[in-house]
Amino acid sequence: MTRTIDLAVIAGDGIGPEVVAEGLKVLEAAVSDSGVSVSTTELDLGAKRWHATGETLTDADLETIRGHDAILLGAIGDPTVPSGVLERGLLLKLRFALEHYVNLRPSTLFPGVRTPLADPGEVDFVVVREGTEGPYVGNGGAIRVGTPHEVANEVSVNTAYGVERVVRDAFARAQARPRRKLTLVHKHNVLVHAGHLWRRTVETVATEYPEVSVDYAHVDAATIYLVTDPGRFDVIVTDNLFGDILTDLAAAITGGIGLAASGNINPDRSAPSMFEPVHGSAPDIAGTGTADPTATVLSVGLLLEHLGLSEESARVARAVSEDLAARDGSPRTTTQVGDALAARVGARV
Ligand code: NAI
Ligand code: MG
Repeated sequence: MTRTIDLAVIAGDGIGPEVVAEGLKVLEAAVSDSGVSVSTTELDLGAKRWHATGETLTDADLETIRGHDAILLGAIGDPTVPSGVLERGLLLKLRFALEHYVNLRPSTLFPGVRTPLADPGEVDFVVVREGTEGPYVGNGGAIRVGTPHEVANEVSVNTAYGVERVVRDAFARAQARPRRKLTLVHKHNVLVHAGHLWRRTVETVATEYPEVSVDYAHVDAATIYLVTDPGRFDVIVTDNLFGDILTDLAAAITGGIGLAASGNINPDRSAPSMFEPVHGSAPDIAGTGTADPTATVLSVGLLLEHLGLSEESARVARAVSEDLAARDGSPRTTTQVGDALAARVGARV
């Protein structure tokens, strides 16, 4: 039986193309024995395109992307483009237009990986961050800008529909994990309107998942626990802004930005999901061949899982885990890391 993965590739800016090349290498290696082939469509999106045409993401680009099974994205952003243009016009537009309402960010402390925590214990949790609502929807405005009387509003949007669909996804993930634990993170003692919608939604959906234990942490307390006792977490569900901040902290305690993977997932599969490293385009090291492609490779693992290729996904995760355990601190190039991971993935066990 043959199957083709139709992949839209947005390599993007800076180190994006460098890490994506290694991600694709590992993807090919992971599926080569499974009768699965990979067909890629490269999209010219990011700083270069914006400079050339003034475009960020056109309707035609979106239509092209919609025709694919999934998207692999490197990174978008360049110091020559005003802040916000590509973030809003490209990255956020993709997430909103393709209904990526689950922003999935696993945090695992792999054996052999250095953590700034003295006594981390076992760390293996996943943050399910809402991806289409909250304060990131652009519901706001400013008047009297630049005057002493400036007014600036950034309204957090939380709909019953939007909260329920992400909470349901988080419960389903918790149910499928061995510990079956879900933690809602919010700030419902102060943000009472949105907070209570989230709290009530979790309470309601929880009745359908009697095997999942549920707890709650205010976001400020959650930052403490992530540092003092990260092992307490299994699945965290939270809103767009809290999730953005918590997942950077989670990346920091589990080995840093070079290892943090993410999926922007449309669980209803009405549009392709997008997988990308959490880090940005790292203009400071672009072109030096020193970027760590591991976060991109782990994102490829999430992509395979989403496409139902669980065994191949597990092989990618295992290859990364083995490679991390074998790292001795001697510097390797981006390509060398990619080659090593592809070799480990390809080796049948
Ligand atoms: P960044 O993540 O690009 O870099 C932060 C630091 O981490 C830099 O010192 C960089 O060299 C290092 N770093 C990042 N990825 C690395 C890797 N794979 N291997 C080794 N070192 C790595 O964040 P920064 O500097 O704040 O942003 C740079 C540009 O990237 C900006 O234009 C920003 O808007 C954009 N950005 C894009 C994202 C995306 O495409 N999803 C996410 C975050 C930032
Ligand atoms: Mg962030």
